[in-house]
Parts: sequence; structure tokens; C-alpha cells
Amino acid sequence: MVDTSDAWIVERTGITERRILKGEGLGTSHMGAEAVRRLLERTGNKPSDIDLLICATTTPDFVFPSTANLICDMVGVGPVGSFDVQAACSGFIYAVTIASQFIATGQCKKIVVVGADKMSAIIDYTDRATCVIFGDGAGAVLIEASENGEGILDTLIRSDGSGMIHLHQKAGGSRLPPSAETVAKRMHYVHQEGAAVYKFAIAKMAEVSQEIMSRNNLRAEMINWLVPHQANKRIIESTAERMGLPMDRVMMVIQKYGNTTAATIPLCLWDYEAKLKTGDRMILAAFGGGFTWGAAYLTWAYDGAARVRSAKAAG
Ligand code: UT7
Repeated sequence: MVDTSDAWIVERTGITERRILKGEGLGTSHMGAEAVRRLLERTGNKPSDIDLLICATTTPDFVFPSTANLICDMVGVGPVGSFDVQAACSGFIYAVTIASQFIATGQCKKIVVVGADKMSAIIDYTDRATCVIFGDGAGAVLIEASENGEGILDTLIRSDGSGMIHLHQKAGGSRLPPSAETVAKRMHYVHQEGAAVYKFAIAKMAEVSQEIMSRNNLRAEMINWLVPHQANKRIIESTAERMGLPMDRVMMVIQKYGNTTAATIPLCLWDYEAKLKTGDRMILAAFGGGFTWGAAYLTWAYDGAARVRSAKAAG
């Protein structure tokens, strides 16, 4: 489709495969609902056990209603509160931050946080600077009060709207509603100035990770896992290096899914679950459009291998 090569993509981004949602009339909710069904199955919960569902997405099915509303209806969750969070690639960290407050106040017992994006809906497949990077995907996590003291211990979210010019979708919102002209000018696609975003992403992901480590008295050797947003293998490696972490303690799935925006971190957690042990110290970190960025510090609450084994045994 564009003037590129497998060698360039692998070397400059680390991506070898991506997933694209096919099927007429299917939006982000289709993938989000499937992720929630599998999550409920794996955790042995019924839809009626969930008392809040938050979906982080930049590619909602519609301007309204929210994709979270649609996912609840598709899975049979509710009627409980549900809403979308829009913070581009940092959306999952923002949503986890919100969810952890509802748990801490005792207002909710079990919250599903979904990160889902159908990036193929807003990618210009004639623009080689973006079309080789993004993929479609969804992941979901269950957040509940723990009984062993493990859990989400700290979160940090940041934003700077002046970064908008470097990464945004030019039309389709209230400032420039869709028209024949905006469509003809290809303004409904992701506009990214890659090199500028790259510089900010490395600086801010490392900065926010170091800040959350320092205010929790954590040294690099105490961290079992860095779970970084998957935008570019080189950004992930630089962040790890600045934090002083070896790559065998860094989750990496970009080779398999590409950049799936709000879905990258929950996809990491899903794919690495069997390796996670009770008490593992983890730093989640992301950077994205807005600009937005953030980090979370948590300790894993259960034996991941046992959970995956028992879910498989239960069929
Ligand atoms: O997820 C939210 C935030 N997003 C990010 O964090 C993405 C951050 N940015 C990046 O990951 C990288 O900047 C990209 C992967 C987007 C681009 O990599 P880069 O190493 O920064 O490339 P560049 O934009 O500086 O371009 C270098 C060269 C240019 O050619 P010239 O001007 O040196 O002749 C580009 O035209 O690479 C060229 N190029 C390509 N060549 C082959 C750009 N895209 C491609 C391509 N295939 N797909």
C-alpha cells in the first residue's frame, strides 16, 4: 500500500504482526465485549457481579452513547454505571486511576476496566508514517478490593494540551464537524508527527516512572515488571534503560499487536498473567495524544499461573 519494507518496520518499531477488526458494522465495542466475556470467564465472575464498567478508548463506536454503555449491554452487565475515558494512549492508566478511587472509597466492589481501540477506523493507509504502526485490539481487567494488602498503591496522571498539534485527528469533532470537504482533505485520520512525539514519549514515560518510584521509595532492583505502553520497541527500551531495568523485566507485546492505543497495557497483562506472582511489584507507564501521560504502582494480588491453570481446567 505504501513505500515501506518489513526491515524498516521491524528495525524502527519492533512490530512484526498486527490485528485488524474485519466485519461490516463492527466497532470497538465488539472487541471490548469479547475481552470482558473472557475476563469474566477467567475470573469466575458473572456479569451481575460487576458494579461499574469503564472503557478507555479513542475510537468509540459513536460520539454517543459511550462504548462502555454498549459493552455492558452486549455482555449483560448492569444496569450499573458505565462510561468512557478519553486520554488516547494513556487512557488505560487514567481509567485504572479512576477505578482505584471507587474501590478505595468502598463505593464499588468489582470494577471492569476495558482498554479498546479500533485504530484501523482512523488510520490513513496511504500515510506510511502512521499506517505501519497501529493495530486493533482490546483487553480488560477486573479491579476489586484485595484481602492480602496487595493492589494499586499509587497512580499519577499528567496532561499538556499544547501537545495537540503533534498528534491528533484534525476533523470530526465539534470544532470541525464532518463535511464533504473534511473527508476530501483526509482530515478524519490520525495526524502524527512521529519524531516529535517520540522525543516526548521517551522523556515523559521515564520521568513519570521515576517520579512514582521515588515517592514510593522504590529502587530499580525492587521492580519485578515494567508494563509500558507499546508504541515503539525503541521507546520501551529507552524507558527501561532510564529506569535502570533489564529487558527481561519489561513486558513487550508490540511485535504481536502493534500500537493498539488504550489496549496495549491490558493486552500485556493478559499475555503475561501466567508469569505473575503474588506480591510482584509493577510499574505501569504510558504516553499518548493530548499530550497525556501517567504511571501506576501496584503489587500483583494473586498467583497468575494458578489462575490461568484453573481457568483452563474449568474450560
Ligand atoms: O502511542 C502514542 C504515541 N506515539 C508514539 O509514541 C510514536 C512515537 N514515534 C515513533 O514511534 C517513531 O517516530 C515512528 C515509528 C513513527 C517513526 O520512526 P522514526 O525513526 O522517528 O522515523 P522519522 O519519522 O524520523 O523518519 C525517518 C525516515 C524518514 O525519511 P528521511 O526523511 O530520513 O528520508 C521517513 O520518511 O524514515 C522515513 N519513514 C519510513 N520509511 C519507510 C517514515 N515512515 C516510514 C516507513 N517506511 N513506514
